[in-house]
Amino acid sequence: MIEVKKLVRKFGAFTAVNNVSFDVDKGEVLGFLGPNGAGKTTTMRIITGYIEPSSGTVRVGGHDIAKDAESAKSLIGYLPENAPLYRDMDVSGFLRFAAAIRGLKGRVATEAIDRVIEICHLDSVFHQSIDTLSKGYTRRTVLAQAILHDPPVLILDEPTDGLDPNQKFEVRNLINKMAKDKAIIISTHILEEVEACCTRAIVIAKGSLVANGTPASLKGMSENANTILAAVSGISLDALREILSGTGKVLKTVCIGGNPAADEIKIRIVPSSGSGLHVSEIVSLLTSKGIKIHEICLDGGRLDEVFRQITIKDQEGLCA
Ligand SMILES: Nc1ncnc2c1ncn2[C@@H]1O[C@H](COP(=O)(O)OP(=O)(O)O)[C@@H](O)[C@H]1O
Ligand SMILES: [Mg+2]
Repeated sequence: MIEVKKLVRKFGAFTAVNNVSFDVDKGEVLGFLGPNGAGKTTTMRIITGYIEPSSGTVRVGGHDIAKDAESAKSLIGYLPENAPLYRDMDVSGFLRFAAAIRGLKGRVATEAIDRVIEICHLDSVFHQSIDTLSKGYTRRTVLAQAILHDPPVLILDEPTDGLDPNQKFEVRNLINKMAKDKAIIISTHILEEVEACCTRAIVIAKGSLVANGTPASLKGMSENANTILAAVSGISLDALREILSGTGKVLKTVCIGGNPAADEIKIRIVPSSGSGLHVSEIVSLLTSKGIKIHEICLDGGRLDEVFRQITIKDQEGLCA
């Protein structure tokens, strides 16, 4: 549904988007991740035809955004960053105006507006001036505008920005509900959002695409991914290390804390690469030695760790 090829956008001598390519299929929710200033909004503005690229192409539903803008744009719902709403309109007037722009008339327009009012929970502010709305309601009014014509492609620039936790939860649910028959891109720097909504994520830093994968595969790039965390009692750290290294499958065992008063130690078990060490093996082994296991789990890695690893690589020396 969305094909982005070798996109470059320069502002004077500065390159905001540098050779970015990716695709989004129907049924996918692509998380567009990156620190502030990475080039997310600029890329979204190009995809929606709001600004032109310096070079590269975008096709939406097969239509080139530059050559066949009207067909491409009719397929897109766009929630811009800092949406420029007509602030002196009330919510109902604004949505009627947006419906007219999208070519919806009469009963079709009324039904579309009723539908988005319900989905975005705007009934209590229907006749309120946009100027007087809270940030949450303003954001949901723009979201309502974006989905009014039930478009197959949604480009949402930080859709949960400024919402409280309940509203964030609702918007994520809404995105999940719409996901199966649309192609959706959401930009965010909230990593839990990626895990809550996205089937795939790309990370951009300083205008360049630096990672592209499922949230789970990105987490797998984390330094501690696929290590085993355990809290145990009834044994010393040295004795525990000896038992674990006896399996021939453990590279090292790192102590990461514990509660000496309760005789508890917390460890991270780093398996040797390719050993296929499983949590259940550790459980059987330790239990057979009479060691009490309070907690044990596989660490799948952390997205925030990976995000830091790949977006601030060049600054690592400075942080150390
Ligand atoms: N119209 C513009 N003129 C000059 N620089 C711009 C313009 N729009 C964006 N930029 C710059 O491009 C970079 C990327 O911005 P943006 O796409 O808004 O990042 P993000 O949405 O990831 O925070 C930033 O350094 C920003 O200052
Ligand atoms: Mg932005």
